Amino acid sequence: MENKKGKILTVTSMKGGVGKTTTVMLLAHVYAKYGRKVLVIDLDLYNGNLAFAYNVKVKNNLYNLCDDLSNNRMRDDGFNDYLIEVDENIHLLASVKDPRQANKIDHHYIDNILKSLKYNYDVILIDTDKSLSVNNMVAFVNSDLLINVFTNDSFDLQGTRNFVAICKNMGVDNLVLLLNNAIDDRKKFYSLNDIKEVVKKNVDYTIPQFLHIKNYDRLVMDGKIKMFDEIFQNDKEFEDFAYHMFGLIDDERGNN
Ligand SMILES: Nc1ncnc2c1ncn2[C@@H]1O[C@H](COP(=O)(O)OP(=O)(O)OP(=O)(O)O)[C@@H](O)[C@H]1O
Ligand SMILES: [Mg+2]
Repeated sequence: MENKKGKILTVTSMKGGVGKTTTVMLLAHVYAKYGRKVLVIDLDLYNGNLAFAYNVKVKNNLYNLCDDLSNNRMRDDGFNDYLIEVDENIHLLASVKDPRQANKIDHHYIDNILKSLKYNYDVILIDTDKSLSVNNMVAFVNSDLLINVFTNDSFDLQGTRNFVAICKNMGVDNLVLLLNNAIDDRKKFYSLNDIKEVVKKNVDYTIPQFLHIKNYDRLVMDGKIKMFDEIFQNDKEFEDFAYHMFGLIDDERGNN
């Protein structure tokens, strides 16, 4: 799709290990499966693991791209040399190789990259680390939606409550809360109502318990964690979930 602006969704959290990266892969899979052209950007600059999870070779990463942009070394084919083909419909802009390079990434380039690439994709999914770094903030302001992933956990709810308050304070009105019930299928202490009371916002979306993957690490080691429709084969529930997730990018159907 040329000259049509795609949706930018940034996935964030205040606590680590809540399922941001898995959610990014899950959403990328769902949108790609139904024909959307998806770019995944790994903006977790200190522990980015999407290239590993996708089991792809990285020739150039985000650091190389920013470095080339700052030195006017971009080639004629523009961004192509920096984007890795994961699938026909999923491309990846990988995180830095060495976390020390993270400090060399100038947020102006992140801004430029997002403003340019949104015309080449239907959806851009940005994975972040659990921080309010300047680079993450630049991703936030360029996003159509900010997706805060959190789990049914006291400390996690505390972080989410803080983030909701920060967004309110800053006038951010495109925050969506995504409760991840799949990461630990035994955690269900708080009801949806309790959660709403604590975090002071409705839960907009849920990743259901049935999406818990028992052999997660085996699938990562085999490079198969991206193949969610094979993991949940013939699962009507998975199709319903996929439909539900289109609410995030489809203005007419979204519940936000
Ligand atoms: N659906 C799932 N089923 C089973 N295990 C899961 C699922 N999602 C996540 N996990 C487990 O939780 C771990 C953390 O998930 P993930 O890396 O997606 O979280 P994260 O928020 O991106 O973490 P970080 O803050 O470190 O970047 C995974 O390594 C995996 O072991
Ligand atoms: Mg992660």
